[in-house]
Amino acid sequence: MKIEFGKEFPQYFKPAYPEEFELFSHFEVISGIPTVLFAITTWKENGKPNVCFHSWSCFHGDKTAFFAVMGNLYQHTHTYANIQRDRCFAINFLSINYYDQLIHTIHQNDFETDEFAAGKFMLSDAKTIHAPVIEEAFINMECTLKDAQDLSGAGLTSMVIGQVQHVSVEEKYAYGDSERYGNNGFMMLVPAPQNLVTGAPGRSAISTVNIQKYD
Ligand SMILES: Cc1cc2nc3c(=O)[nH]c(=O)nc-3n(C[C@H](O)[C@H](O)[C@H](O)COP(=O)(O)O)c2cc1C
Repeated sequence: MKIEFGKEFPQYFKPAYPEEFELFSHFEVISGIPTVLFAITTWKENGKPNVCFHSWSCFHGDKTAFFAVMGNLYQHTHTYANIQRDRCFAINFLSINYYDQLIHTIHQNDFETDEFAAGKFMLSDAKTIHAPVIEEAFINMECTLKDAQDLSGAGLTSMVIGQVQHVSVEEKYAYGDSERYGNNGFMMLVPAPQNLVTGAPGRSAISTVNIQKYD
């Protein structure tokens, strides 16, 4: 038996925090699809470096180009404004060991704040674009803005697509799958899977990737 859901908000769903369903669609917690966590780094207009902890994205391409498709970037963020202005951004993949430092940059988010200093991250310059990158990341990805589209049309979020121009990989992670998955590898967001029967709220969780078999 399947439990069915449409576009109408299920009134018995209780939010995990008051504004949860002002921010997220009920489909997000119905499906609870994990996506990789990373930091977007850009320059603010005043020259201070910006860090934005982010997820809700996918990465793919064909033989001619590779894209970072950030499906759901809030338009009110510094990051959105910085990308619109500079037309580029960097993506930094960090292990779960950096979770607390990344959360710190969310709470230290003033225009005047150096968010690398706030998160205690080491900064270096991207090689092909005008953006700072996080040295501690095991992969840095440099992107130019390809397109941005407000998918819902509500003026809240935007799907921001970056075309990847350059990737830097920490040497320790260069040997196949040995470091990239597990505790030192990609960190994933599990977005608060709701109890679909009682409507009780779920808890957002952070996970790593555990390889089970080979294709
Ligand atoms: C796991 C996770 C948790 C987040 N928690 C919050 C939060 O509690 N409050 C918030 O405003 N944004 C949260 N965000 C979204 C952005 O990280 C946050 O808005 C960011 O600080 C925007 O940065 P900017 O304005 O410097 O671009 C979260 C993102 C992730 C991936």
